[in-house]
Amino acid sequence: MADLQLVNMTKRYDDFVAVDDVSLAIEDGEFVTLLGPSGCGKTTILRTIAGFLRPDAGALYIGGRLATDIPANKRRTAMCFQSYALFPHMSVRENIRFGLRMQKLPADEQERRLSEAVDMVGLHGLESRRPAQLSGGQQQRVSLARAVATHPDILLFDEPLSNLDAKLREHVRVEIKELQRRLRTTSLYVTHDQAEALMISDRIVVMNAGRIEQIGDPETIYRRPSNSFVADFIGVANVIEGQPVASENGATVLETEIGRLSLSAADRVGADAVLVSWRPEEMVIFRDGMENRIDGVVRQSIFMGNLLDLFIEVKGRTIRAQMTGEARVTAGEPIALSVPRDRIHPLG
Ligand SMILES: Nc1ncnc2c1ncn2[C@@H]1O[C@H](COP(=O)(O)OP(=O)(O)OP(=O)(O)O)[C@@H](O)[C@H]1O
Ligand SMILES: [Mg+2]
Repeated sequence: MADLQLVNMTKRYDDFVAVDDVSLAIEDGEFVTLLGPSGCGKTTILRTIAGFLRPDAGALYIGGRLATDIPANKRRTAMCFQSYALFPHMSVRENIRFGLRMQKLPADEQERRLSEAVDMVGLHGLESRRPAQLSGGQQQRVSLARAVATHPDILLFDEPLSNLDAKLREHVRVEIKELQRRLRTTSLYVTHDQAEALMISDRIVVMNAGRIEQIGDPETIYRRPSNSFVADFIGVANVIEGQPVASENGATVLETEIGRLSLSAADRVGADAVLVSWRPEEMVIFRDGMENRIDGVVRQSIFMGNLLDLFIEVKGRTIRAQMTGEARVTAGEPIALSVPRDRIHPLG
């Protein structure tokens, strides 16, 4: 068990800065996710922690020890890859045992760890098969068992679920989370799937172009994105600029392209224009007595089973709204919506 610290870490490939002055502290036993678009440096960070890459600047500490100069095989980290990276000619048993042999553990300890790992991921009866004789989900579990069997201080996951179908992805995700809860192994998990990050993480690190945009628990990241990149990357957000024009009983009134909006964040808003955001599911059909009326025309109404996903044109802009499936909304019709002031969040 160990905590993990990156201090001002930079990694370049020739002139290209892939990881740009990143600092991050992960507590012992914590499950942290790196979330960001393709190419933002997620895998580079994992490989640097595992010791496959050397940072150009900055330091890495594992369990309080400077690890930057410790060779990969001495770091006590284990990685699960997107491709599973199983040895095709080896059986499940041999694949899992591989890391234990590398650690030169006594045979009886290898045997004990092997059966413990097989137990943990539910691979009983499949120990003699080769990877080609397993489904994708089963191969993923072998990869997980192989990582866990070595009792690493740090578990690193690089998009381990991206080759699985939606149903299986959900299933294995729950298994990974459950396993990590039991083992309490410090984990760093990479994904570009925001829903996955929200579900699985203690904290999320949102990255963009080699830099950290925001670190926070899932609810904070979702409800209080610190800028428009985060608001936009995590699900769907309405983002609009407003000019403060008045202060009324503790609220600030913004003049925006889609009309006047009151927000309950008077203390955080000065005289300058601000960006504000809110989530589509915060919008409701306008009724008398409500504030922040927004009038528009429904351009698309998409039935999603449990909700309706609406694209609404308001003065040439598209506003997104989501409501429960009972709402009756038809494309082409005018609509009046409202968003409560306490759901409108100023972006920093
Ligand atoms: N060996 C390399 N040589 C040169 N550039 C590289 C190398 N490896 C990665 N890069 C570049 O560094 C950037 C970060 O790559 P990285 O693999 O860390 O991204 P990522 O966030 O994991 O993306 P993805 O979600 O697509 O896996 C990318 O722009 C990539 O093209
Ligand atoms: Mg990657």
